[in-house]
Amino acid sequence: MEQIPFSIWLFIGIAGFLFTIKALYGISIAVVLPITRGALYVSTARCRVSAALEVIDLKPGQLLVDLGCGDGRVLRSARRHCQIRAEGYELNLLAFCKARLLSCWYTGITIHLQNFWGADLSRADVVFCYLFPDVMSRLARKLSEELKPGATVVSCNFPLPGFTPQRVLRPGSPLTNDPIFIYRIQAASSDQQPVGDKRP
Ligand SMILES: C[S@@+](CC[C@H](N)C(=O)[O-])C[C@H]1O[C@@H](n2cnc3c(N)ncnc32)[C@H](O)[C@@H]1O
Repeated sequence: MEQIPFSIWLFIGIAGFLFTIKALYGISIAVVLPITRGALYVSTARCRVSAALEVIDLKPGQLLVDLGCGDGRVLRSARRHCQIRAEGYELNLLAFCKARLLSCWYTGITIHLQNFWGADLSRADVVFCYLFPDVMSRLARKLSEELKPGATVVSCNFPLPGFTPQRVLRPGSPLTNDPIFIYRIQAASSDQQPVGDKRP
């Protein structure tokens, strides 16, 4: 019988490896879909993360929380940008493992394999999120109940209902310049809702 050339084995090996990675990616998303409600494991482009961090005036020692941190790139960028403490919540096992692996050289970064709806956000100075419209109303309620006045919220692509953004950025190329909404939490007062900044 004729021997199968090494190049064919190599091709089969690479194709099998790529297929396995893709299958794991799909399975890891499908397993948590009932909870994530459409917020799939897709990372924010690095240039968009940098653009958001540039404008939010982070100070060393502050706490940034990424709700659904994916591969943890926002946490690492924020930590490099300025010596803040960074905390991420992630339910997708594949994303969580990647985030932990890539962040293991960093101090000041904590990543939880946990549903962020149970997280206490009262200590956060900055909350970052890139989620999905289906959860934004519930998230707006949680943020307005838990965040302290002066805290900043950065939401990629999707606005927070009931909040008025302080700024809307459109970084990236003309093809991928989806909005990034930046909100500042105001103190509650009798004549306004205790949510986002009402100024234009
Ligand atoms: C679009 S990705 C954004 C990842 C990262 N924040 C970024 O900007 O690169 C949204 C992530 O949120 C995670 N996620 C959605 N709902 C979650 C929940 N309730 N608890 C924890 N993670 C959640 C998903 O698994 C997904 O990885």
